Amino acid sequence: MRYWSSTPHEDEGRTREAIESIIAEVERGEALQWAIERRDDGRVIGSITLMLADGQPRAEIGYILGREHWGRGFAAEAQGRTIEYAFGELGLHRLEADTHPDNHASTRSLERLGFRREGLLRERWLVGGEYGDSVLWGLLAEDWRARRRR
Ligand SMILES: CC(C)(COP(=O)(O)OP(=O)(O)OC[C@H]1O[C@@H](n2cnc3c(N)ncnc32)[C@H](O)[C@@H]1OP(=O)(O)O)[C@@H](O)C(=O)NCCC(=O)NCCS
Repeated sequence: MRYWSSTPHEDEGRTREAIESIIAEVERGEALQWAIERRDDGRVIGSITLMLADGQPRAEIGYILGREHWGRGFAAEAQGRTIEYAFGELGLHRLEADTHPDNHASTRSLERLGFRREGLLRERWLVGGEYGDSVLWGLLAEDWRARRRR
């Protein structure tokens, strides 16, 4: 949660509220969210989300994994499939991501997928009493298809 847009949940009630708010966004057609499940035992280890733009063919991608599952390529696998779905089935034109400048794991994963660093927005988030900058990233459907052809 160090670079997330909200502080760690203090209790289960807060987690339930967060899940209910995501379900409401999905029902209103504003977001899509998937659980990331381990193939061998079906354990849910994280989630991946597309926040859809109102009336525009773009979305923001967000992802989180339990710490004990980091560094094993699970994010890459989930991101790749979600991007395929966004540019394929959903027919989107552009994906965006917003990272904290110090979030090296997230930065690395976006670079590897071909996202371009498009800008820095200063003190965009106030989380736990601290302002944090945002690096904004963009990936066009044509960038993704060109990489796939290589
Ligand atoms: C971001 C996150 C989902 C990456 O998950 P992951 O499954 O570990 O990612 P991958 O295994 O696909 O690795 C991604 C790249 O980051 C690198 N990486 C992983 N942890 C790292 C770290 N702590 N510091 C620097 N690089 C790191 C990996 O080596 C890999 O790069 P490589 O292909 O050059 O080897 C995970 O770290 C996480 O859940 N973080 C907390 C939530 C979060 O910050 N989400 C993103 C908000 S924008």
